[in-house]
Amino acid sequence: MKRKIIIDSDTASDDAVAILMAHRFPDVEVLAVTIVSGNMRVEDGSRNARYTIELCGAQTPVYVGCARPLLREPVHAYWYHGADGMGGMNYSEPKLPEQDKHAVDALIDLVRAHNVGAIHESPLLVTLGPLTNIAAALIRAPEIAKMISRCVVMGGAANVVGNVTPAAEYNIWCDPEAARAVFRSGMNLEMVGWEVGRGDAALTEKEIADVYALNTAYAKFAMDCNVHALQLAKNWQGDPGMTLHDPTAMAIALDPTVSKRSGRYRVDVETRGELTRGMTVVDERHTVGTQKIFTDEWAVREKNVLVHHELDARRWKELLYNCFK
Ligand code: BDR
Ligand code: CA
Repeated sequence: MKRKIIIDSDTASDDAVAILMAHRFPDVEVLAVTIVSGNMRVEDGSRNARYTIELCGAQTPVYVGCARPLLREPVHAYWYHGADGMGGMNYSEPKLPEQDKHAVDALIDLVRAHNVGAIHESPLLVTLGPLTNIAAALIRAPEIAKMISRCVVMGGAANVVGNVTPAAEYNIWCDPEAARAVFRSGMNLEMVGWEVGRGDAALTEKEIADVYALNTAYAKFAMDCNVHALQLAKNWQGDPGMTLHDPTAMAIALDPTVSKRSGRYRVDVETRGELTRGMTVVDERHTVGTQKIFTDEWAVREKNVLVHHELDARRWKELLYNCFK
């Protein structure tokens, strides 16, 4: 039986690679791609996701969801991913249509419909954008939290510097209230922060050339659409090459053994901080419960998230390249 995956995405260039990976994985069935506002407006995210699915020769349904965060103004990142979100490649308009149903309804219906066997047979949810759609689904149908085998979140920065502020990573910062609702929902959560895709996990110029040398449409697409992001990763982030944040989360979702170092902690999201909006506060020292004095807020909270700190760079790249062959 194939593993069932639902992908929630604000599809820009690295989301597209993650969507491609799931479609290229042999034992995986992608039930749907749901689109959320984030790096892209939803209309651009939908177009980029449908183009990617078509490239994979698939017909995966794409549902458009929330066009803005729960409470905040939308802030997009065309400056990072290019004017089309795909490195300025201006790919043709996909023929695959959008579904009529709203993404939040689709998420609820799909999770319920597949709630038939053991929990490990239930859908795996991989989130590659702000958590607005997921929070909205959980508000409408909180019981679905326990009908998802794993929810792997690309987002956050586990006690390290963020990418939009010193305290926060974009996906969580963009809609911190939604992220907080999801982190407190009781779902079986895993967090892959942006730091996981940095350093050795980034693709160097030589590795990018190696990928192009595979000479497949998938390899070319994955590298081409990230050219713009590559420049920003090197010149703005100070990374040694192409950082593929969503694909690193997808790799861990598809094969958890790619993760080299992880820990289970209480994680919550800062929504009110003056300088720390969207900070993922990871109780890495398990301070909660070991102190004589702590706030009520933390006292009642369990360890709720498996945080991945680091992946095996060699194995991650091997997995990625295999998806391009
Ligand atoms: C996140 O924002 C985008 O750059 C990527 O698609 C990823 O989801 C990283 O902060
Ligand atoms: Ca994304």
